[in-house]
Amino acid sequence: MEKEDISGVNIHPIAIRLLSWYSEYKRDLPWRNNNDSYQIWISEVILQQTRIDQGIGYYLRFLERFPNVASLASASEEEVLKVWQGLGYYSRARNLHQAARQIITHHNGILPSSYHGLISLKGVGAYTAAAVASIAFGLPHAVLDGNVFRVLTRLFAIETAIDSPIGRKMISEIAQSLLPEEDPGSYNQAIMDFGALICTPLQPRCNACVLQESCMAYAKGDVTIYPIKERKTKISNRYFHYFHILQGNRTYLQKRNQPGIWRNLYEFPMIETMQPADFMQLKQTDAFKELFPEVTTLSFEPKLVLRHQLTHQHIHTRFYQVEIPERVTFTPPSALFVTQSEELHNYPVSRLMHKYLETI
Ligand code: ADE
Ligand code: SF4
Repeated sequence: MEKEDISGVNIHPIAIRLLSWYSEYKRDLPWRNNNDSYQIWISEVILQQTRIDQGIGYYLRFLERFPNVASLASASEEEVLKVWQGLGYYSRARNLHQAARQIITHHNGILPSSYHGLISLKGVGAYTAAAVASIAFGLPHAVLDGNVFRVLTRLFAIETAIDSPIGRKMISEIAQSLLPEEDPGSYNQAIMDFGALICTPLQPRCNACVLQESCMAYAKGDVTIYPIKERKTKISNRYFHYFHILQGNRTYLQKRNQPGIWRNLYEFPMIETMQPADFMQLKQTDAFKELFPEVTTLSFEPKLVLRHQLTHQHIHTRFYQVEIPERVTFTPPSALFVTQSEELHNYPVSRLMHKYLETI
């Protein structure tokens, strides 16, 4: 183990192997080309809950539009949401925006360079604080994400549930004990890349794995049972019925302002039902009668049926197209009139709405 001899002190053999694997196989990602702390922060927030290949395009567009803290802080929330559109988990975008304003007001416009300073920012949790502290500032904080949980529970055959406080504590201690003092940022990225490329959830590439000899799960032959979880998250089903109303060249949008998913994004007027409902059933609801007080003879098939998956929710969606003659006075409650061809695309919409608009 040559590196151990060169650098001298206390690098765990697993860390050495991960780092040398990383120096050869690391992914070429745009934010790895410099150590601008703002850029690293943005990349880490985008990569939470987003696949890397999808995240890259958003990252580049986000930075082009908001190249630094000041430009992000001075933008409107709507502009930020617009650039974020389609990425999902919109609270991340709102929090980024508010954090940029915090940085301007409380940190002289400069991203804090300590773990505690970082974690005090809106939306920055333990993961993001550790990632930015280590990658941008070389501070010794081990990251814990899904990749790290998987790799470490396998290496040490940890059977304690990772969604229990004891399991989390155990893994956090192991992660911290493996972290090399020198270049913790590369080590953190190495273990995440390793989890994404080699020690993958379903079919880990144990035969190409530089840690195979030290892997306890591999020795036991039960690699894919890790990480073990206590409870399966409960998924709820929701039923959304959207109305793409066409009146000449105009359509209608509503801003979603109740708490929960897609807050402050725009969507077509919609009705949510507790159970699946076809058009006949939908017509009987009070919500439908409120939305279409006059139009009673409508009868149609949905233009598009989509199932949209969020982390804890499956959204079963039907999009109906409704044509209303221009001479009819039609004012759906709290809706906004927009022209279909010019204005519609200026509004930030959910990924679900985006899918529909792309399809039609
Ligand atoms: N996932 C999230 N951030 C990452 C990073 N910096 N490197 C590899 N995988 C990641
Ligand atoms: Fe992961 Fe397999 Fe390597 Fe163990 S041997 S660390 S399970 S890839």
